[in-house]
Parts: sequence; structure tokens; C-alpha cells
Amino acid sequence: MSAHKKLLLLPGDGIGPEVMREVKRVIDWLARRRGVIFDIEEDLVGGASIEARGTPLSDGTLRLARDADAVLFGAVGGPAWDHLGFDNRPELAILGLRRELGLFANLRPAIVYDPLVTASSLKPEIVRGLDLMIVRESTGGIYFGEPRGIETLEDGSQRGINTEVYTTHEIERVGRVAFDLARKRKSHVHSVEKSNVMESGLLWRQVMAALQTREYADVALTNVLADNCAMQLVRQPTQFDVIVTTNLFGDLLSDLAAQLTGSLGMLPSATLGTVQPDGRRHALYEPIHGSAPDIAGRGVANPLAQILSFALLLRYSFDMQEIAADLEAAVIRVLGNGLRTADIMAPGAARVGTGVMGEAVLRELDKAA
Ligand code: NAD
Ligand code: IPM
Ligand code: MN
Repeated sequence: MSAHKKLLLLPGDGIGPEVMREVKRVIDWLARRRGVIFDIEEDLVGGASIEARGTPLSDGTLRLARDADAVLFGAVGGPAWDHLGFDNRPELAILGLRRELGLFANLRPAIVYDPLVTASSLKPEIVRGLDLMIVRESTGGIYFGEPRGIETLEDGSQRGINTEVYTTHEIERVGRVAFDLARKRKSHVHSVEKSNVMESGLLWRQVMAALQTREYADVALTNVLADNCAMQLVRQPTQFDVIVTTNLFGDLLSDLAAQLTGSLGMLPSATLGTVQPDGRRHALYEPIHGSAPDIAGRGVANPLAQILSFALLLRYSFDMQEIAADLEAAVIRVLGNGLRTADIMAPGAARVGTGVMGEAVLRELDKAA
């Protein structure tokens, strides 16, 4: 058995393989310059796997993911597969991995790096210094609740159904992740739901409150309704430290938070499972953006969210804090040097494509080595 950490790369569709290529160059650099070697597997997921194997997530891929110390995911989906039913869509790859590996806590940090303070669509004074962590529940809620489906009624018209469900256990375990993270940050959790209209939201609020009283009296807890939270995020985002919320609200609020930082192309994420008796913990890392069909194949995608997702992987799963910090610092220096992909372009900056951006990160790593 190899002593090296097992890393599974799943590039996926659209810009997924384009941005993953830049991470592979970082991996090669680490081997060459730092002697850090991983045991790497790569496989197809999403539309690419549908084309090759007729399924978005094959049993073999799932086995590789279970066996890996960490999974780095690109993005899946695209117009070519939008006509497929919900039993065979590319998106099932990511949903299936979350579900099958029990990856219930999706951590989505939104950090405004100084050089990008003018890239946000909000005023610099509103977003400067933003360092927010969204903890999105990711194996429950309306994404997975039963019943679901589209049924035909007696008059021939149809009815679409999805169900929002949360249990005490599901709320507590994601709540603990949020409170534990807050303890290492500014000790403030905002819990976000719609307890004014949904029973599942009311239970969410009650369970979070009880958990805080019982186990986290040292951490401040503020309850916010999801609609107000969306407004507060654009009004004064720096009021937040850690936001913990449901699967669906977390999906929406994290895309919103991404734009606060300048672009969807900047936000990484980590999705963590339970710590198992042997100390192992399944974990998957991915940018929060999708396969971006509108720009795929043109070499213009921003690879930084994928590279920063790899930095999170090094930090959380491989305990390589120093290398992760070097990689993050290299990304910030590249931005400081004025290099920009189209999505974060600013007046006076140098516009570059995916490959040049990745190359620039390697050059900054060279300087630190
Ligand atoms: P998207 O995130 O792919 O794109 C939204 C917009 O942001 C587009 O204009 C795109 O060009 C831009 N963008 C995204 N990432 C970028 C990057 N790295 N650099 C520069 N610009 C970037 O969302 P969408 O268009 O709503 O969805 C497209 C497909 O992706 C759909 O099939 C959707 O289901 C899928 N999707 C997959 C994932 C995932 O695999 N985790 C996440 C979100 C969406
Ligand atoms: C995300 C994506 C996914 C989600 C899709 C592709 C299933 O939007 O990771 O944010 O909705 O969770
Ligand atoms: Mn999303």
C-alpha cells in the first residue's frame, strides 16, 4: 500500500477540466519543487460519464471516492444533458457523492482579497475585509426530501412536488460544525431559515437555540430569516462571521456571497462528512461555480476557485497547512500583480486566460520556494 495520500480528481464537464488542468500543474510543481507526492486517480463524472458509461456516477467512481483520502471535483452539467430526467442528469454526480459519502457540511468561505476589492459589484467600503463562512447543510432538506416527482392529475394537468424535511439529528450535526468553526473565528453564528412560514424552519431554529444553550454558550447565536439574510448580505456583509443554513438557502446565499468577492470564479468549497471511528473523514472539495457552458472551451475561465479548493483540501484533509498557506498567498500576489481573468477584470489590469493565470500562480510559488 502506498504511504502517499490518495487524491481522486473528478474534472467533469465544461470548464471543469479546464480549471482542473491548472491544479494538476500545481500538483506537478509540488512534486518537482517540494518533493510532495500524492497517489492520484482521475475519473469521469457528470455528462462525460454519461457519454462514456451511460451514468453520471458509476459504481467504480463511487468506490474510488470512498477509498480516497480526499476528492477534488470540478463541475458537471451542460445544455447537452438538460433534457435528461432526474434519474440520469449530470448533477446527480455531485448530489450522489454528497449523499453516498455522507458529506453533510458544505463549507463555503467568502473572502474579499484586497486586490479584488473593486471587482465586487458592491462599493469597496461595503465589502473591504469581508471574511465570511457559509456552512450549508448538504445531504438533506428539499434536495433529498420525499415525496418528490411530477404527477399527472385527473384533469390531465400536472403537479410538481418536492419536500423540505429536517430532523433534529441533521440540524444538530451541521450546527456543531458551524459553532466549532465560529469558536476559531469571531464566535458568532447566524442561523438562517424561514421559521415564520415553514415547520422545518421552526424546528431548525429551536434545535439551533437548544444546541447553543447546551454546548456553545460561549458563541453568540443570531437567528435571521432567509429573505432578510439575503438583504443583509448586500447591505452590510461584514456583520457576518459564520452563517449556518439549509441546503437550498445555502445554495442561493453562497452564489450571492461569491459575487461580493468579485466573481463566482473565486469561491472554493469543502464538503465534509462525519469523523469515523478510525479517524478518517470523507471530504470533497470543489469550486462553487458550475460548468459555465457560456464560456467553456475558450480558455478564459478563472481557475482560482479550483486552485483555492485544492488549498482547502491540503489544509483540511492532508494537514499541509504551510503549503496551503503558500498557495493561497501566491494567488493573492498574482491578483496584487494586476493579473485578471475576464470575470474579475478591472480598468488598468492585465487580462489573461486560464493557462496564464495558472502559470502566474506557479511563478509566485517559485518565488516562495
Ligand atoms: P455556472 O456557475 O456554471 O455559471 C454562472 C455564470 O458564472 C456564467 O456566466 C459563467 O460563465 C460564470 N462563471 C462560473 N464559473 C466561472 C469561472 N470559473 N470563471 C469565469 N466565469 C465563471 O452556473 P449555471 O450557468 O447556472 O449552470 C451551468 C451548469 O452547471 C448547469 O448544468 C448546472 O446544473 C451546473 N452546475 C454545476 C455545479 C457543480 O458541478 N458543482 C455547480 C453549479 C452549477
Ligand atoms: C452547487 C450546485 C449544485 C447544488 C448542483 C449542481 C446540484 O449548484 O454545488 O452549488 O445545487 O448543490
Ligand atoms: Mn449552486
